[in-house]
Amino acid sequence: MTAIPSNHRIDSAFQFIQTGYQFIPNECDRLETNIFETRFFGKKTICLRGPKAAELFYDETRFERKGVCPVRLVKTLFGKGGVQGLDDTDHRQRKEMMMSLMSEERIDELSQHMHKHLDQQSAQWETQNRVEILDAMHHVLSHAICEWCGIDPTQQDMEKVTQDMAMMVDGSGGVGPRHWKARRARKRGDRWAGQLIEQTRAGKLNPPEDSALWVFAKHQDRKGNLLPAQVAGVDLQNIIRPTIAIARWIMFAVHAMHTQPQAFQELKANSDIDAADRFGEEVRRYYPFFPMVAARTRSAFEWNGYEFPAKTRVFLDLYGTTHHPHYWSNPDDFIPDRFLSDIDRKFTMIPQGGGDYHQNHRCAGEFITRRLLRDAVRYMADQVDFEVPAQNLSISMTRIPAEPADRMLLSNVRKRVPSDTPAYVG
Ligand code: HEM
Repeated sequence: MTAIPSNHRIDSAFQFIQTGYQFIPNECDRLETNIFETRFFGKKTICLRGPKAAELFYDETRFERKGVCPVRLVKTLFGKGGVQGLDDTDHRQRKEMMMSLMSEERIDELSQHMHKHLDQQSAQWETQNRVEILDAMHHVLSHAICEWCGIDPTQQDMEKVTQDMAMMVDGSGGVGPRHWKARRARKRGDRWAGQLIEQTRAGKLNPPEDSALWVFAKHQDRKGNLLPAQVAGVDLQNIIRPTIAIARWIMFAVHAMHTQPQAFQELKANSDIDAADRFGEEVRRYYPFFPMVAARTRSAFEWNGYEFPAKTRVFLDLYGTTHHPHYWSNPDDFIPDRFLSDIDRKFTMIPQGGGDYHQNHRCAGEFITRRLLRDAVRYMADQVDFEVPAQNLSISMTRIPAEPADRMLLSNVRKRVPSDTPAYVG
C-alpha cells in the first residue's frame, strides 16, 4: 500500500483562502496526483479530484455525512436536521420524499411559473436605468418557487423571503458581516418555514396535496412520526433556497452571452431548445459555484493502493472535476457544443454533486436547475434585448460563491415580442 501524498503544508486553510476554487486543482497539478492529504484548521483532510475519485466518494458503504458539515455552513446554508446530514435508510426515506416532487409535469409547471414572473418583471426592467440581473432573477425565482411549493406569495413578505434565501447562499462562504447576515437570515427563514408547516398541519393553510408544503408537512419518518416542524421547515427551505440560487447560474449565462460572443451568436441563430440546454450545461460546467463537497470515511479501507484511515474527512473537488484537463478538452474555454457528445453525467459532469439521485446525496434539484436555466437562457436570448454598460465583469476565484465584481448590470432592457405563457414546455 502507498501512503496518500501530502501537500506538505502545516495547514492549508490560509492557502485555500488565497486560492479558493483553484486550491485543490492547483495542489493536484503541483503534486501530479488526484489525491492528497492535508490539514484544514488542524483537521486531517483527504482531497480528491476527478471522476474515478467521485465514484469512490459516492460509495455510501465507505463514506458517511452525519456531522461532517462545518457548523458555519449548518448555521447558514443548510440548517439543522435537513437531508444533507442524514445517512442510510433515514437519508433514503427523506430523499424519496424530495424526489417525489421532481416529476416532469411538476417541473413543467415550475417553468411556467418562472415564465409568468419573467414576463411581469421584464416589463418593469424596461423602466429601469440599470437592472442587476442577479437580484432581478432572485425576485422572479422566489415568486415562482413559492407558488410551486403551495405558498401564496401575496400573503408573504416576499422581499424579506427573497433576501433571506439569497443571503443564506451568498453568506455561506463569507466571513465577517456577510457570514453574520447569513446566520440571521437562516434564523428568520427557519421561523418562517416552521410556521408554514405548523399552519398547514393545523388546517389554517391548505396547499395542494402534490405541493412541497403539503408533502413536507405530512411526511412521516420510519417510525410513523411527523417530522419536527423545524426540520420539515429546513427541508422546505432546501427546495426554496436553492431554486432561488439558480439566479446565479442565470446571471452567469448572461455573463457568457456578453463575454462569449461567438457562442451567443450561435445560440441566437439556433432557436432549438436543445441549443439553450447545451449553453446552460456549459454554464454549469464552466462557472464556479460550490467548490467541493465533504464526507467522512466510515472505517479504514484501501483504494487504488492508497490507505484511507477511519473517520477521516474527505473533500471531493466539484470545480476541479468539471475542469479536469484529462476528461474535458480545453476545459477553460466556453464551448456549449461539447455537450453534443456523450458526457458521463454520473461522475464527470458534477457541478451539483454526483452518483445517484435516490441513493446518494446528489442534488435533488438538478433536473429543476437544468430546466429553468435552459428556459431562462432561451428567454434572455430570444425575448429581450439588453445592453451591458461599462463595468467590472471579472470573476474572483477566491470569492465563494463566485460572482462578477459588479454583479452583471444590464441597461436598456427591452422586451422583443409579447410572449404567451408557457413558451417552452417540453
Ligand atoms: C443553484 C443551483 C444548485 C446548485 C449549484 C446545487 C448544488 C448542490 C450540491 C453541490 C449538492 C451537494 C451534493 C453532495 O453532497 O454530494 C446539492 C445537494 C442538494 N440540493 Fe442542490 N444545487 C442547486 C439547486 C438545487 C435545487 C433547485 C434544489 C431543489 C429544488 C436543490 C436541492 C438540493 C438538496 C435537497 C440537496 C441535498 C441532497 C442530499 O443530501 O441527498 N438544489 N446541491
